[in-house]
Amino acid sequence: MKKSVTEILGIEKPLVQGPMSWVTNAEFVAAVSNAGGLGVLGPNAGQTELTADPIETAERMRREIRKTKTLTNKPFGVNLAPNPDQSKDPWTRPILNVIKEEKVPAIVWMGVADGTVLPEMFQELKDAGVKIIYRAITPTIENTQKAEAAGADVIVATGFDEGGLMPEKAIGTFVIVPMIADTVKNVPVLAAGGITDTRTAKAAFALGADGIFVGTALLATVENPTHQNVKEAILRSTAEDLALFKAPPTFVRSLPGKLTDKLVELYQSGASDAEIGKTLGGMSGFNVGMMQGDFDNGWGCFGLGVAQIHEIKTVKEVIESLLA
Ligand SMILES: Cc1cc2nc3c(=O)[nH]c(=O)nc-3n(C[C@H](O)[C@H](O)[C@H](O)COP(=O)(O)O)c2cc1C
Repeated sequence: MKKSVTEILGIEKPLVQGPMSWVTNAEFVAAVSNAGGLGVLGPNAGQTELTADPIETAERMRREIRKTKTLTNKPFGVNLAPNPDQSKDPWTRPILNVIKEEKVPAIVWMGVADGTVLPEMFQELKDAGVKIIYRAITPTIENTQKAEAAGADVIVATGFDEGGLMPEKAIGTFVIVPMIADTVKNVPVLAAGGITDTRTAKAAFALGADGIFVGTALLATVENPTHQNVKEAILRSTAEDLALFKAPPTFVRSLPGKLTDKLVELYQSGASDAEIGKTLGGMSGFNVGMMQGDFDNGWGCFGLGVAQIHEIKTVKEVIESLLA
C-alpha cells in the first residue's frame, strides 16, 4: 500500500511549501514546519544580494540551514535545480554536499528542461537518507515515470495556474493533477498551482492528490520576506491583473509595472529569447521586484490564486485555513 506524504516526510499535515527564489528564509521556512507542513529553503534563501560564486552560494545556504535548525526541530527541505548536463552546472554539487553534511531531511528537485531525472544523483540522495520531492517544471507522463523509477519519494503535479517558472505546456491544475495521479503507481502525489484557499485545497484532494504544494498562498504572510508593497499588491489583485510573458524557455506571470509591461510587449511581438533574457535581468530583476517592491525596474512571479488572497495572515493561519 502507498505510504502517506505525512508518514514519508515525518510531518503532521499534507502540505509542502514550494521553494521560492529569494523570498524564503529560515524564519519563514521554520514557521511552515512549526505549523505542521514542510518548509523548504529556496535559492538565495535569507539573502538580499546575489553572489556569482557557487561555493559562497552553498555556504550561505549552510548558514540558513543552521539558522532554520535553531528555529524548528521539525523536518524541512532545500531546493535543488540540477542542470541535465552536470558538466555545465557548478551550482548543484556544492549545495548537494552541504545538504548531506547538514543532514537536511528532504529536497525539492526542480526538474528543468525535459524534467531532468539524474538516477545517480537520486541514489546518492537516497543513500544519504534525504527524501526526494520531485517536481518537474513541465510535468509529463514520461518524466513522472522516470522519476518514480529512479526512486522519488513524492511527486508534484504542477498546473499552469501556478506562480514561478510555469510549465511549458499550458495544462491547468484541473487536468494535470488527475493525469499525473493516474500515472504514479506507488508514491504520493501533491497538487500545485492555484491552491490559495480551503475550496481550492479541497479540490486538489478531489482530483486525486494526496497533499498540496503551495507557494503564492504563503507570500502574503507576516513571516515571508517579500517586500511589504508586494504583499499589499497581492491583496488588491485578482487573476485578471497578472500579466503573462516569456522567461525563456518557460513563462512567468507578474504584477503590472513598467518592466512587466515591456516584457509583455516583447513576448507579444515575438522578440527573440536572447532579447527577452537581457530585459529580464535574470534573478536580479526578480530580486528588484519581489524584495525591493519595485515593479518598474523588476518583475516577480505570482500564481492565479492571488484572486483568493484578501488578508496578510501568519503562516500558521494560512495553513490552517487551507486545510480546514
Ligand atoms: C515567487 C515565486 C518564486 C518561485 N521560485 C521557485 C524556485 O526558485 N524553485 C522552484 O522549484 N519553484 C519555485 N516556485 C514555484 C513554487 O515552488 C510552487 O511550485 C508554486 O508556487 C505552486 O503554485 P502556486 O504559486 O499557485 O501555489 C516559485 C513560485 C513563486 C510564487
